[in-house]
Amino acid sequence: MEVGIDGIEVWSGKLKLDLPGTLAPERGEDPEKYTKGLGVKESSLPDAHEDIVTMGANAALRLMKRKDLEPEDISRIDVATETSFDNSKPVSTYITGCLEKVYGRGRFKNANQGERKFACISATQAIEDACNWIRAGVNNGKKALVISSDVALYERGDPGEPTQGAGAVALLISKDPNVVEIEKEQGYGAADETDFLKPYSYFPSVDGKRSIEVYLDRMREALEDYERKAGRVTKDGFARATFHTPFPKMSRKAAVLGFRHTIKDTEIEEELAGQIGKIPREDDYENYKQFEEELEEYTNNLGETEIFRDWYEQVVEPTIQLAALTGNWYTGSVHIARVSALLEAQKNGKEMEDKSLLVGSYGSGAQAEIHSERICKKWKNEMEELNIEEMLDNRYDLDFDEYKEVRKVHNYSEEADVESLTEPNDEFVFAGHGSMGERVYEFA
Ligand code: COA
Repeated sequence: MEVGIDGIEVWSGKLKLDLPGTLAPERGEDPEKYTKGLGVKESSLPDAHEDIVTMGANAALRLMKRKDLEPEDISRIDVATETSFDNSKPVSTYITGCLEKVYGRGRFKNANQGERKFACISATQAIEDACNWIRAGVNNGKKALVISSDVALYERGDPGEPTQGAGAVALLISKDPNVVEIEKEQGYGAADETDFLKPYSYFPSVDGKRSIEVYLDRMREALEDYERKAGRVTKDGFARATFHTPFPKMSRKAAVLGFRHTIKDTEIEEELAGQIGKIPREDDYENYKQFEEELEEYTNNLGETEIFRDWYEQVVEPTIQLAALTGNWYTGSVHIARVSALLEAQKNGKEMEDKSLLVGSYGSGAQAEIHSERICKKWKNEMEELNIEEMLDNRYDLDFDEYKEVRKVHNYSEEADVESLTEPNDEFVFAGHGSMGERVYEFA
């Protein structure tokens, strides 16, 4: 049975922060650190009436309308987020509460709903569970909805500030999918780490440099585990390699390590030996630090070779184009990378049917997961329906004072009275708090 992603919709926060133009001068940083060092240009941020519920519900509503779905067609709804505001009531019931304002009260009453947490990897985990639920044949012919929704804000002045973002991705999981079939083999790399956490706080506590190392270590373990299950990964085995993209240059770091792994003990390693030497092997060194330094130097040199650059431009660069304009959407980030890859192919008339994607997800704390996906026949039709580029073009361009002001409303613990900068238009909006402290929503 083929099971996978049948439809995707994306909802971006309606505000835009120009990173090199507006943020860099205020932080006293070189704009090129953002554009060249991190690979970022713009962040999507939520307006005062937006939050994880409105963005998730708006993405889900678009998806349901476009796919002509009734609530009764869906009997499993998982919302992945690391920006939740309640330790008991799940975001999923807030979102179905919104959707029932359109479809009618009680229409989702037989859907199994939950909220998923594992930093940025939890939407991938929810997709995996939804696929297995269908493969097990206990879905009674119904489909699953996986929604990732996050507002990724850091403390003002934090090194993570230029990587911020906000948005939601809604994914419909079913048999005989239109977009991608998800293969069964999965590789994992997990460890107890403290690279990024939110110990009952709105803003994260981050060791950014460490999080890069942990990301790459777990991704390597996941790749090795994947190969044990699915066979060796080769450089030409995948049309695109999509990674969790907290900032675009992170994907390049993952890509060069992945490429190094695929050429080890191959003719390509031999061919490159005259130019950059061979990949250092740990067994050849008595001093581990020296091995690490030489491996790092080899990897840096490999990243400058023509063969890597050509591969990167074709296989990875299309996956990071959207992330440069959206910023980090935490749980949605790897799913935006998939959209970016397919959208680029659709716009440029590239044929992708039956080709494979390698998908590498990561969540701090920490776990990486790698699997492959086969692109389905109707992928192009699904991409033609997306309006993400229009949404990004229509965002309100914040000046720095507006940026500082609108941030206040997105720290759930603060009482802030901030006016929206955009006019809601056929969308769910946050409308205040109820008597039990619950958040209240309307369709505007
Ligand atoms: N022109 C071009 N490149 C520049 C530059 C300039 N003027 N100034 C710096 N750079 C480069 C640096 O060399 C570095 O590149 P490298 O990683 O290839 O070495 C890159 O820009 C970032 O600079 P750095 O000084 O390391 O940035 P930082 O200390 O401000 O922090 C992060 C960067 C990613 C650690 C920070 O944004 C962060 O904490 N992000 C949130 C956590 C995160 O996303 N983790 C990722 C794994 S989940």
